[in-house]
Amino acid sequence: MTYDPLDSSVTEHPYPHYAELREKTPVKWIASMQAFAVAKYGDVLTVLQNSDTYSSSQFWPALLGEYDPVPEVAPMISLDPPGHVRIRKLANAAFVPKKIASFPPKIRGIANDLVDDIIARNGKAGSFDFVWEFSALFPVTVVADVLGVDVKRRSEFKHWVDDVLSAGNRAAYGPERLTQIAKSSMELRQYFDDLYEQRKLDPKDDLVSAFTHAEVEGQRLTKAEVMNLAILLLIGGVETTTNLLGITLVHLRSRPEVMQRVRDNNALIPNLIEEVLRYDTPVQMLFRHTLKPAVLNGVEIPQGSLVLPLLGSANRDADQFADPDTFNIDRQPGQTMSFGNGAHFCLGTFLSKMEAKIAVEVLLDRFEQLQAVDGKVKWMDSYFARGPKTLPVRFKVREPELAHG
Ligand code: HEM
Repeated sequence: MTYDPLDSSVTEHPYPHYAELREKTPVKWIASMQAFAVAKYGDVLTVLQNSDTYSSSQFWPALLGEYDPVPEVAPMISLDPPGHVRIRKLANAAFVPKKIASFPPKIRGIANDLVDDIIARNGKAGSFDFVWEFSALFPVTVVADVLGVDVKRRSEFKHWVDDVLSAGNRAAYGPERLTQIAKSSMELRQYFDDLYEQRKLDPKDDLVSAFTHAEVEGQRLTKAEVMNLAILLLIGGVETTTNLLGITLVHLRSRPEVMQRVRDNNALIPNLIEEVLRYDTPVQMLFRHTLKPAVLNGVEIPQGSLVLPLLGSANRDADQFADPDTFNIDRQPGQTMSFGNGAHFCLGTFLSKMEAKIAVEVLLDRFEQLQAVDGKVKWMDSYFARGPKTLPVRFKVREPELAHG
């Protein structure tokens, strides 16, 4: 078996490859990526906790290239300490759980509106595509809402975000598509530039206002940093949560008994989400560059190397999780790698789990049947993001809605 993340048959079903890596070559040179893959939980932890050796500085430039909407400042995901610490403290000050705890009614409203649209388009029973009609719309609407994006501009906004996110695949696109991505990148920047100016003068109860006015130890974020942070939330928080919801339905498809338990007892939804995040995580790998020569699990890594901590593999490491290849919503999963670790631990952990919990609650409440149809799942063509590209589901709305119809 050869682990090559550029081979689509590997990315479709990476777990046997990870198991072989963990057993035989836990730190392995991958020629196609010109990078060292790191497969064991403990080694991934070492990489993520030692930014003086394993730097994040190349992350963003590699992802967005010349399509970065705010190229004049590095976003915090691409900064190493100490530069990272200042921005992270200010972002934390705005993004506190107390603030996020006020979001559920809005988030529930967004999920219910999407279900209303699905029923309006497809009737009260039949089939629809879960990715296109729900999971790809829900997180972008939530993040737009919490940032403070005007409801009237939401569809334009979704278009810009989709284009900028697709810059990660720019090598595969022709000139027409690239011109479109560049245009969307400029429009997204202009939108946040205007929003910053408005919220500076007239703060509202949204995150752009909170970022603009956050102050820690006499420090504030500059306009470019606020724009950058808003765009980072979009890039970090939209596709990941979309994929988490899609993956959840994929795994419920073959486990009707789990679906039934969760339907009977909604208090199990957070366990379900935790286990999906461990078992089949939306972010399969991260990117680091060595600032000095290193030795990891006996393997010498020269200075200037690209290193790929494989989060999806770390989550299946038997040294960390008992019986790791079994999907078990009753486990106490402990600290998974799904949101990273160390200085860059995901800022959106709390929000994304809240979104997923509310989405599953609303879907189970509104649909008496919601079942992904059998057949091969079409996974995204990506070596670092994992999620179904499309997911046809059969559905039937719950009886009271039928009665109202
Ligand atoms: C299932 C959903 C999500 C997953 C799996 C996920 C995963 C991750 C991971 C693995 C990292 C670490 C990156 C690194 O170390 O280089 C990260 C960082 C980050 N995430 Fe998330 N994320 C999710 C949702 C969100 C949401 C909803 C938001 C915000 C709206 C968000 C915002 C961020 C930000 C700002 C960072 C950078 C933090 C820093 O550099 O200090 N994420 N995320």
